[in-house]
Amino acid sequence: MHFETRCVHTGVDKDSTWLSATTPIYPSSTFRWDNLDGHRGFDYTRSGNPTRRALEENLAALEGGIDCRATSTGMSAIAGVLHLFQPGDHIIAGHDIYGGTYRLFDAVFRKMGIDFEFVRMGDPENVRKALRPNTKCIWIETPSNPLLNIVDIQAICDVAKSAGVITIADNTFLSPYLQRPFEFGVDIVVHSTTKYLNGHSDVVGGAIITRDKAHAERVSYVVNALGLACSPFDAWLVLRGVKTLGPRMEAHQKGAQALAEFLNGQPTVAKVYYPGLTDHPQHALAKRQQKGFGAMLSFDVQGGRPAVEKILSKLTLFQLAESLGGVESLIEYPDTMSHASMTEPARREAGITASTLRVSVGIEHPDDLVADFRQALEG
Ligand SMILES: Cc1ncc(COP(=O)(O)O)c(C=O)c1O
Repeated sequence: MHFETRCVHTGVDKDSTWLSATTPIYPSSTFRWDNLDGHRGFDYTRSGNPTRRALEENLAALEGGIDCRATSTGMSAIAGVLHLFQPGDHIIAGHDIYGGTYRLFDAVFRKMGIDFEFVRMGDPENVRKALRPNTKCIWIETPSNPLLNIVDIQAICDVAKSAGVITIADNTFLSPYLQRPFEFGVDIVVHSTTKYLNGHSDVVGGAIITRDKAHAERVSYVVNALGLACSPFDAWLVLRGVKTLGPRMEAHQKGAQALAEFLNGQPTVAKVYYPGLTDHPQHALAKRQQKGFGAMLSFDVQGGRPAVEKILSKLTLFQLAESLGGVESLIEYPDTMSHASMTEPARREAGITASTLRVSVGIEHPDDLVADFRQALEG
């Protein structure tokens, strides 16, 4: 079946009593046992729930994995998967990963004895050089947030495999519609389903998708033991959102390409970061490993924070808000918003300046989005 068909049908058709066309929400916290020897597959919602299971089957199929656990947030998915590691283990990650992931690694799991090293992952050689005897994992996030640097997933997986370490990829920015890390050899995929998978800015959630039986069992154990799973209502919302993932992603990236091209020609814009632009340094790599260029873009304005504030005050269609991946366009200032959890030196090292703005392009008509920016930049 084609991807779009799987989005609509996988994990659905669960209601044998009424044959409902959509998956029912089962809010029940507990399920009756038939007798002392067995139940019908679910006994307690922290451990498993039919609505959540439908979402998990769907996401596992879309990424090409064997199993999935749907969690309460993207961060709880990331925190959960880190429990595959132990004190003394060493994990290599990109220097420009999502600020909340950086904070979790640097300020929480480091205290628990796991060591992290942040490298410029654009060059796989930097990852090879950072390998140590106790390295257990390479953490991949591509495209990176907010500067849209692309990591060569295949090259990093080759480094990992030669060293016998696993790779985990955060596929939030593109969704499985545009990028499937398992196809390059990644071992585990995580998502913030808050973003494109749900797509309507009305739920927070996450997912851990595995392709190996041992990882699947351990992740399932950890998610239950720590109580990380999402509620049946939230699972239902994400499952509903996923049905339109393909058409939404197409509309999102159409707007992003138009906006990036417009911004790229503006005298008041110093730099545009969007892999769909032919002058993006990794345009060819993005074209090779992604099905499209996605709908996140960033740009540096001329004139620092005062210029940033002027543009923000004039835009009407772009809401000043964090997050991304919803149908409505959002704009945010990484320095004080999405990446405030990083220290200023870490932000500057990652290339985020006081003039950087990040845009999550929604599914509005591209002409309206460009017109809004035109009046904001010219005014
Ligand atoms: C790439 C990426 N991963 C993970 C997360 C965390 O997800 P959540 O906010 O759902 O916990 C985010 C949030 O913005 C993100 O952008």
